[in-house]
Amino acid sequence: MRFVHCSDVHITGNYSRAPHKLGWRRWVAMLELSVGGRGRAFRAAPRTLAAIAGAAGSEGAHLIVSGDLTAYALEEEFSGAREALGAAAGDPRRCTVVPGNHDTFTPGSVRTGRFQKHFGHLLASDLPEHCREGAFPFVRLLGEGEDAAAVIGLCSARVPFVPGLSFGRVGEAQLAGLAALVADPRLAGRAVLVVVHHAPLTRAQRADHRHHGLADAQALLALLPGPRFAVLHGHIHQRYHHAATATRPHLFGAGSSTQAGIEGYWVIETRGGQVVGGEQRVPPRG
Ligand SMILES: [Fe+2]
Ligand SMILES: [Fe+2]
Repeated sequence: MRFVHCSDVHITGNYSRAPHKLGWRRWVAMLELSVGGRGRAFRAAPRTLAAIAGAAGSEGAHLIVSGDLTAYALEEEFSGAREALGAAAGDPRRCTVVPGNHDTFTPGSVRTGRFQKHFGHLLASDLPEHCREGAFPFVRLLGEGEDAAAVIGLCSARVPFVPGLSFGRVGEAQLAGLAALVADPRLAGRAVLVVVHHAPLTRAQRADHRHHGLADAQALLALLPGPRFAVLHGHIHQRYHHAATATRPHLFGAGSSTQAGIEGYWVIETRGGQVVGGEQRVPPRG
């Protein structure tokens, strides 16, 4: 079975339209957008994301987005992401998304369930008895025979105390749900792709630093030993693959798939209950 994995697409709204409605957290973020050049870097993001979704469709691949669909969790950014993903985003058999820290950027966006409003239909689980924290972890059982695979979605994104702190945590409840899923006989013989926003390891195979990393990365990796498993993540805007070992899963970091100059995504193959590898692609220019 084939999967297209992209991440950190950061669809960015119009921040000059109603600045008084942005809230203080986004005022801090505005500096990043303007002085930091972030706005410019993601100007073509909707077009690039639509091209990636189109490529997934024409390859017959299941499309996975590992969080940071938005810049700062504005309503118009969520609707823009949904629109750019096209028809696939209407169908849980064709598309999986999890939230990133930018999608939970303000307490208000979480309180009003903005991510769920646009993508809640994609969080339905085929085995809901294993959900432990809201919809998470959810699982989707896809393909059959040689192609049988399972995609599991975790939420590591938490509202930061202050902008700039962007570490994540899966938490004990979701880890217990994940352990139960991995042990469930209905997953036997399936390759298992676990989608989470924060990176368990950096490109240099180290733990990411305390203010940016995944706090319980080691506990997560320990549940997923060997090439049957892969963790698909984003958050670090670099694209890399660390192959599985006997004690650790494959790790695919999709980087920022729509950031000008470093656009790209993974095509990941599973076969015979294993993750057999991945290939980097550059999205076609729309
Ligand atoms: Fe990001
Ligand atoms: Fe992130």
